[in-house]
Amino acid sequence: MAADSPREQWATRVGFIFAAVGSAVGLGNIWRFPFQVGQEGGAAFLLIYLLFIVLIGFPAMLVEFVVGRHTKRNPVGALKRIGGGVWQYVGWIFIATGFVILSYYSVVAGWTIRYTLLGLQDGYLGDAAEAEAQFVTLASGLDAILFHAIFMAIVIAIVAVGIQRGIELAVKVIVPAIVVITVGLAIYAATLAGAGDAYSYYLSPEWGTIAAEWQSILPAAAGQAFFTLSLGMGVMITYASYLDEDRNLAEDGAIIIGFDTAIAFVTGLIVFPILFTAGVDPADPGAGAIFVSLAAAFGDLTLGWLIGAVFFGTVAIAALSSAISLMEVVVSYVVDERDVDRATAALVIGGAIFLLGIPSAYDLVLLDLFDLFADQILLVFGGLLLMILVSWSLSELAVDELERGIGDLGSLGPVWIWTVRLLVVLVLIIALVLGILDYYE
Ligand code: PFF
Ligand code: NA
Repeated sequence: MAADSPREQWATRVGFIFAAVGSAVGLGNIWRFPFQVGQEGGAAFLLIYLLFIVLIGFPAMLVEFVVGRHTKRNPVGALKRIGGGVWQYVGWIFIATGFVILSYYSVVAGWTIRYTLLGLQDGYLGDAAEAEAQFVTLASGLDAILFHAIFMAIVIAIVAVGIQRGIELAVKVIVPAIVVITVGLAIYAATLAGAGDAYSYYLSPEWGTIAAEWQSILPAAAGQAFFTLSLGMGVMITYASYLDEDRNLAEDGAIIIGFDTAIAFVTGLIVFPILFTAGVDPADPGAGAIFVSLAAAFGDLTLGWLIGAVFFGTVAIAALSSAISLMEVVVSYVVDERDVDRATAALVIGGAIFLLGIPSAYDLVLLDLFDLFADQILLVFGGLLLMILVSWSLSELAVDELERGIGDLGSLGPVWIWTVRLLVVLVLIIALVLGILDYYE
């Protein structure tokens, strides 16, 4: 598609919500969330995380929506248009962040494909220690590189086809499937012997933990809130840029956030009962938490291989719709601003992301470093700059744009703007500073 041909739009009214939910719901909910909870001490993290979703994530998502719908451009073009000058470089940060995140995201997605096949081969190991050893073997090295390649090839193929046929279609199956399977597994997990202890670990916060650990909980929770909602990277700018009609963006945002938060929360209700029942310290398995705990559970269950294959298969598809959204940011930039066709752009960019992911596929320690750097530094930094720009110098434009499709916001407009100006910006600054200190520790 040449730069001057008409821009694509969502095919159906719900296409936008589906795609945004598809972007939000992914490995961030099912892989990253439980392992962050485990690393950051359980319920204390959950509490701060939920607060941030509502107080920071929701207002920030609306900012990205109004920028996208107002400019109808990719993030770089959008920031050039509304900010000009140096602000366009914020768009570049988004693109860089997308590159880095997708490089290791695809590696983890590769693990989910591997674990789907493992189920079909009846290969889950019922013992948690053995499952952990198995994870370590499968998650790095040649195996991991191969499945990373397979996953990226699928992403490239879908993005090359384009917005309407590719993304909307892929997403309609995923969300209902995830909801049904996670709720089913949570009910199963409730019957396990360790469920009681797991619930109190996961659900009753100790104030002492928050007081003692806030320096690491705060940046982790802010980063996770942005990551899980696909914020700080221009995804929601890009997706809202394909919107034409005057949708109620606040309502759409609430729906998207509701789905995302519910799926993460329920995943915790699955993972921790299984880990506690198996006697595994939830802080222990780290990036492998979900793979170790679930493989061990599936290894024990009648027909566990089948449930496992269906579960990991669904997660792989959820990861796919999120990965597509990340790729779409970069591809839409190249398609809009340079005279490159979509298929070529997808192939070249996807190939580069594959190469960048090889270190993460090779060594779990590197994957951890990429993840921490992208999540606690890049993501928060880009998001922070966008929030400052829009809330301080474009507040009138932002409120006007949000009011299209809602009507007069009255005093809610200033409430939103001041929440972003003060609360969101302040929390992100603190999170960024603590995140940098944490990273260089
Ligand atoms: N929100 C996705 C998830 O939770 O898995 C991951 C993600 C997608 C992060 C797109 C960032 C993004 F731009
Ligand atoms: Na998510």
